[in-house]
Amino acid sequence: MKHLLSIETLHSEQLTQLITAAERLKAQRGNHASQPLAGQTWAMIFTKASTRTRVSFEVGVRELGGNPMFLSKNDIQLGRGEPIKDTARVLGRMVHGCIIRTFAQQDVEDFAHFSQIPTINALTDDEHPCQILADLLTVKEKLGSWEGKKIAFVGDGFNNMTRSWMWAAKHLGFELAVASPKEHQPDASFLQALNAPQVSITTNPAEATKDADVINTDVWLSMGEENQTEKEARFGAYQVNEELLALAAKEHIVLHCLPAYRGKEITETVLEAHSDTIFQQAENRLHAQKAILESLAASKPSI
Ligand code: CP
Ligand code: NVA
Repeated sequence: MKHLLSIETLHSEQLTQLITAAERLKAQRGNHASQPLAGQTWAMIFTKASTRTRVSFEVGVRELGGNPMFLSKNDIQLGRGEPIKDTARVLGRMVHGCIIRTFAQQDVEDFAHFSQIPTINALTDDEHPCQILADLLTVKEKLGSWEGKKIAFVGDGFNNMTRSWMWAAKHLGFELAVASPKEHQPDASFLQALNAPQVSITTNPAEATKDADVINTDVWLSMGEENQTEKEARFGAYQVNEELLALAAKEHIVLHCLPAYRGKEITETVLEAHSDTIFQQAENRLHAQKAILESLAASKPSI
């Protein structure tokens, strides 16, 4: 694996290997046998806000022996309009890898292409692969496996989180039921490309949640959509609350990638009742991303 750009382009074996590596790195935290990023500098270009992703990558790079270099969009010429392909060709001659959070998926793919250094998607409008790896690790820790489980996603059916979940369901074969307003469901061309009969889409949150082992949600308005009040107004019936969870399997867990807007996509009561799982999920970002970094370092950076 040279880059981690999406869940879509991963194989099922790569997904399971990364999760196994994350389990090992979690168990060995503070006592790692090797420092695969020793002598390396990893740039972190972020054009959107972040708490979990930024902190977990900075800590993760350091714990594997490397140096993280955080570059906010406004601190570098990218913010003044320097093209991503030029930024990539400069950084590719100076640093050993790059972690990018931005809007367009194409920018991350162009960076990987033009820099020729290992590149990680730390969230785009299309995918959030690092988060899904942490989420799958959490499901495995809490429920033993995702195999044979029903996973529900209640909320925006076509944002970065749901897209990555849908690709994960396709690769790993678990049942995924997405409940979302019609306007925010995956379009026909995406579903055709996905071609995953185990992924169902409904407008009915009760139908998706019924007997689900995992109930997953995310913000109604993703970063960059904050002013879309018309969009938000369509989600009133898609709140994860106690009434909805009464329909889930008896031993269910609740996931939220965070940050959460209490009283919108999830109630305060549900978030606090499931906070052990949700903050374990947040911690798992560190372990999952160390697994990604370790795997990319093994692909021998070109400089
Ligand atoms: N879940 C997640 O990516 O959080 P941040 O936006 O805080 O990085
Ligand atoms: N869908 C959310 C995820 C945040 C981690 C967003 O893009 O803002």
